[in-house]
Amino acid sequence: MKALEPLTLTDKAQSDEDKVLQEKVKSSGTLPQHIAIIMDGNGRWAKDKGNVRLFGHKAGVESVRDITESCAQLGVKHLTLYAFSTENWDRPSAEVSGLMNLLVHSLQNEADRLQRNNIRLVSIGQLDRLPKKCQNKLQEVIELTKNNTRLELCLALSYSGRWDIIEAIKKVSKEVQNGNVNPDEIDDNMVSSYLSTADIPDPDLIIRTSGEYRISNFLLWQLAYSELYVTQTFWPDFRRDELYKAIFSYQKRDRRYGKVKNGYTKRLSASVINKIIS
Ligand code: FPP
Repeated sequence: MKALEPLTLTDKAQSDEDKVLQEKVKSSGTLPQHIAIIMDGNGRWAKDKGNVRLFGHKAGVESVRDITESCAQLGVKHLTLYAFSTENWDRPSAEVSGLMNLLVHSLQNEADRLQRNNIRLVSIGQLDRLPKKCQNKLQEVIELTKNNTRLELCLALSYSGRWDIIEAIKKVSKEVQNGNVNPDEIDDNMVSSYLSTADIPDPDLIIRTSGEYRISNFLLWQLAYSELYVTQTFWPDFRRDELYKAIFSYQKRDRRYGKVKNGYTKRLSASVINKIIS
């Protein structure tokens, strides 16, 4: 395993104040292993500044860098970013091509830093729909960083949760057809293993910026028991201090997975149950 070098994604030395804050985040509760983020509000951020939407996306890349760096420093193992949804293809062509160029440009700029900082890049989605130059650059950086172990950064590109589930259904159906899978044996774990995220644990924390309370066709299956955190902050303004707030909030949650907290149940006799419900 590679030694942990100081992280330099932002090319800025980490401030003492930030180091103290990170220690507080790490010591105040369980750290989410996997954080997924719906990065929203780039367009409104740019509009507020009297600028075109692409300006917001460009500023959003700075947030991607800062959040990636701080997750790696904290010891979060997986970070999944919703960078481009299937529905985003229906945006004006100038915005779509601007986003694709920004992606190529960012991958080009960040490849070396990801590598030096032991961060592995992976991607999920209908990647064959991306322009060739995007596919090539993406594959190049995925290949370059494939043995890195500090943090896995997953970009959801041309992704939708329903697409992911449909693909899984198609694969399982073929296995059933070929006699390799008995339909009665299909369970949660089996379905998870056919999704594009098969190798990634489900997110513990899902963050959405810009104040919208929806999942927008993101990881529909995988978010079943994730803790949701919504902030009003637009993505280009979402930096590490906001991330720490989200993690502090997560650490206060009581994750029961639909069950009852240990020690909270009282044994009830059938007659008491009947009395209560009648
Ligand atoms: C949502 O804001 C944001 C996107 C659709 C694109 C996110 C892309 C980036 C942050 C840059 C590229 C990313 C990487 C990983 C290099 P919006 O446009 O929907 O904003 P609005 O809701 O205010 O209109």
